[in-house]
Amino acid sequence: MKSILVTGGAGFIGSHLVRHWTERYPDTHLVNLDKLTYAGNLENLKDVETLPNYTFVKGDIVDEKLVDELFDRYRFEGVIHLAAESHVDRSITNPLAFIQTNILGTATLLNAARRAWNGNSDNKLFYHVSTDEVYGSLGKEGLFTETTRYDPRSPYSASKASSDHLVRAYFHTYGLPVVISNCSNNYGGFQFPEKLIPLVINNIRHHKPLPVYGKGENVRDWLYVGDHVAAIDLIFHKGQKGETYNVGGHNEKQNIELVKLLCRIVDKKLGRKEGEAESLITYVQDRAGHDLRYAIDSDKLVRTLGWKPSVTFEEGMEKTVDWYLSNEAWLNNVTSGDYQRYYDRQYGNR
Ligand code: NAD
Ligand code: TYD
Repeated sequence: MKSILVTGGAGFIGSHLVRHWTERYPDTHLVNLDKLTYAGNLENLKDVETLPNYTFVKGDIVDEKLVDELFDRYRFEGVIHLAAESHVDRSITNPLAFIQTNILGTATLLNAARRAWNGNSDNKLFYHVSTDEVYGSLGKEGLFTETTRYDPRSPYSASKASSDHLVRAYFHTYGLPVVISNCSNNYGGFQFPEKLIPLVINNIRHHKPLPVYGKGENVRDWLYVGDHVAAIDLIFHKGQKGETYNVGGHNEKQNIELVKLLCRIVDKKLGRKEGEAESLITYVQDRAGHDLRYAIDSDKLVRTLGWKPSVTFEEGMEKTVDWYLSNEAWLNNVTSGDYQRYYDRQYGNR
């Protein structure tokens, strides 16, 4: 059986990817290496944990010995690398954790693949999952393309940009077979409620203030997580080695517009009075260095590989709200303990 290493498979996107891959490719053995940080949660994978083509390994991608051992034991033909520290606000308070995992961790994996594959790249692929945030911040016009100059502005995006450069360097210097995708903001079930959409849904449930940074005018380009996973599958199987693909569904929304939409959907689904959730909106201090606008041009992926999103923004939002409202136990679990301390630090105990 062919083996693939997935890193960060217990996180938000990773758990969707593991579920998709184990189901779609029963003849591929997926090994999920995850450190189980605050963002990793085995509850996200309950339905796959007993599958014969799935193995979980708890460990750190920075642990060179462990990573080498895994390559020796499983003889991976592919790597899908998602493990990362992923939240911009946390990168502002603790940048070193991002440098450690996102840069050193990626370098450790690249080195292990290079050693194990030893110049033989037949049927091998190192797939690096990255973000559109490496391109920096757009003004009112324009879109990020694959040739947009890198201009990261947060410790998170700078660490991801650095990891992208390392991946390309291993391609050019050592001939390591790599591919990179840079995706826009994802949304869907199983996202840790430090990120805007699940945080807002959770706070509405509890009648808590909905913190909107600055004037709420920043724009993000939203993509349903299942469509990102479908893009990763397509690029993994059909993408050109050494290439980069942007992934995004042309769903640009100002934060305030998105928060108000969520308010309307959740109020309706909970049978609350119209406007009840909106009255919870609270403008708070802006994020330091807050990127104004992200917007992705995914034309290359659409044109060369035939990808297109399967879910409209409206459908995706409905599905997402339904998921959080019907998975209260999951939300309650991940928002107990540590989460409360994070929340108090970040939002000043509001
Ligand atoms: P997440 O924070 O939900 O999950 C990250 C996972 O990585 C967790 O399971 C965590 O335990 C694990 N992890 C963290 N440090 C680790 C380490 N040192 N060793 C092993 N495992 C470790 O993140 P996500 O939102 O699912 O993002 C996954 C990837 O996709 C990241 O690389 C991120 O940069 C990229 N990405 C995310 C988005 C988005 O909107 N969420 C968009 C584009 C790209
Ligand atoms: P987030 O979900 O953290 O994703 P990213 O920073 O990677 O884009 O934030 C999405 C947008 O929402 C971003 O512009 C910051 C803003 N935001 C708020 O206004 N309030 C919040 O409490 C959070 C977490 C984010």
